[in-house]
Amino acid sequence: MSILVTGGTGYIGSHTVVELINNKYKDIIIMDNLCNSSEGVIDKIEKITGVRCKFYNADIRDEKALDKIFSENKIEAVIHFAGLKAVGESVKKPLEYYDNNVGGTIKLLQAMKKHECKKIVFSSSATVYGDPGTPKYVEEMGRGIASSPYGETKAVIEGILESLYKAEPDWIISILRYFNPIGAHKSGLLGEDPKGIPNNLMPYIQKVAIGELKEVSVYGDDYDTKDGTGERDYIHVVDLANGHVKALEKLNKPGIYIHNLGTGNSYSVLEIIKAFERVNNVKVNYKIAPRRPGDLSKFYADPTKAKKELGWEATNRHRRYGER
Ligand code: NAD
Ligand code: WQD
Repeated sequence: MSILVTGGTGYIGSHTVVELINNKYKDIIIMDNLCNSSEGVIDKIEKITGVRCKFYNADIRDEKALDKIFSENKIEAVIHFAGLKAVGESVKKPLEYYDNNVGGTIKLLQAMKKHECKKIVFSSSATVYGDPGTPKYVEEMGRGIASSPYGETKAVIEGILESLYKAEPDWIISILRYFNPIGAHKSGLLGEDPKGIPNNLMPYIQKVAIGELKEVSVYGDDYDTKDGTGERDYIHVVDLANGHVKALEKLNKPGIYIHNLGTGNSYSVLEIIKAFERVNNVKVNYKIAPRRPGDLSKFYADPTKAKKELGWEATNRHRRYGER
């Protein structure tokens, strides 16, 4: 039996494939249209794990391709990462985001149903909480109004999965709400390398550190936080990847399950910059800039439910040898 990983050559998907192989899941099929990643990732995964994954260069909106993948393989479960994720771009191109993320997910679910594969783990996001008025996000709070079309696509997909489960209660549906994923594989082979100017803090810091960009704009230093800069729950991508392995393992009864994947701690923008400088022994130039519209001052996960039900918690121990 195989696991299909959509978006498996992407940032979180590739790390998850490595962790699946490191556990008992050796038969992995990756499907990706390479719109934000490259096929070379398959070689890198093989270098790290010794396992060559079967790869389909295909779009999740392509019914024929999905039919071929499900016909050629006995797929037991799907981990669904494929999607567009740039918040700013989604404001300018909402139709593309709904078409790709929502439309693509519907096609995928239809193919799964047709081929009687009814177990899915879905990449959701803390953004679906909207602005609940408290920084600690607990699953029971439900969804709020997301601050971007990107965020709305995640909320809509969660709603579709809920409706599907109500209509067909033999599905096993795991919704994982990620907080702020950062970091890379300790081999140095996998990591986040966005095309163009990054939106997210960590890749921006990296590009400043290597001299590709001049300085980080710290968006606001007048928030009601520990040092006035925004606070987030940054989670290492390998910890996040392991959350998916646990979801596959532990969720074996039909149901719809929602879990936060975060550390339960928040760090400020300046703390992140300072930690990056200390660990890498480099200078990261920054300037204080105006607040970024739509940003919240502070939020972090309550990770209790994932610990209790999945036996998962973030360890933050994925450093290279010699790092402090
Ligand atoms: P990523 O862009 O690195 O990976 C997504 C992959 O999906 C890419 O390889 C891309 O080529 C592929 N893809 C996109 N549309 C596709 C389509 N129609 N058909 C086939 N492949 C397609 O992004 P990531 O950071 O690894 O994110 C993975 C998932 O997690 C996404 O759904 C994202 O929305 C979600 N997520 C990410 C974050 C984050 O901050 N990185 C936070 C919360 C949720
Ligand atoms: C983090 C902090 C910024 C860049 C976004 C999405 C969310 C999720 C994760 C997918 C904030 C500050 C940032 C910079 C800065 N993605 N910052 N200068 O906004 O928490 O979440 O990515 O689901 O949906 O909205 O992440 O990395 O953009 O920002 O000062 O150049 O860093 O203000 O406090 P965010 P981020």
